[in-house]
Amino acid sequence: MTAPPRPVADPAPADAPPGPDAEPLREEPGPGAAGCLALYAKLAAGVTVVTACGDDGPLGMTVSAVTSLSARPPLLLACLRHGSRTLAAVRARRAFAVHLLRDEQQELAARFASPTTPASGRFAGTDLRAVLGVPVLAGTLAWAVCLTEDVRRYGDHQLVVGRVAAVHVGGGRPLLWHDRRFRSLTGSAPGAPG
Ligand SMILES: Cc1cc2nc3c(=O)[nH]c(=O)nc-3n(C[C@H](O)[C@H](O)[C@H](O)COP(=O)(O)O)c2cc1C
Repeated sequence: MTAPPRPVADPAPADAPPGPDAEPLREEPGPGAAGCLALYAKLAAGVTVVTACGDDGPLGMTVSAVTSLSARPPLLLACLRHGSRTLAAVRARRAFAVHLLRDEQQELAARFASPTTPASGRFAGTDLRAVLGVPVLAGTLAWAVCLTEDVRRYGDHQLVVGRVAAVHVGGGRPLLWHDRRFRSLTGSAPGAPG
């Protein structure tokens, strides 16, 4: 006889304090955070900058955890660290932009990730305009402006689902993040046709 499916617990709302289930989950046998971080480092990902409108001007951060979710309706998702200033603005303003960086934009990615660089420094020298009230950086590989559809907390991050309201695709090669290093695409995979 097969075991009945385990009920899937509803994820906690984004602003809920850790519930009574949090502690048993932490004690479950498994590889632990260090093992998982080693695995996550092997996930090759495009590098993006997520921006939103803060109370005192634009906010933005580097994010590699961005994924396409749906075409009809057009949805994408981003995983933002709980406590991030940009996340607070994404939630408060209900809108944000995702910029896919080009492989020459490593310095921009590092700047938008630096915890000691204030928002004014992150945006210094960038060519910025507002699209649907959201700060959009010029010169990236592509960007999407999204309306915040859903935000849920999972562990130490929050999963943000955005409905794409405007999109622009430019040219160039993507900046990648793999094994905790920036990388770029170099041709085809070994054995790939032509
Ligand atoms: C290549 C790279 C990828 C990153 N990806 C993420 C990510 O997916 N989610 C996240 O929350 N932080 C990510 N970070 C870290 C944030 O960019 C960093 O914590 C930033 O300082 C947060 O800014 P804020 O607190 O001003 O919003 C990444 C950093 C780097 C260098």
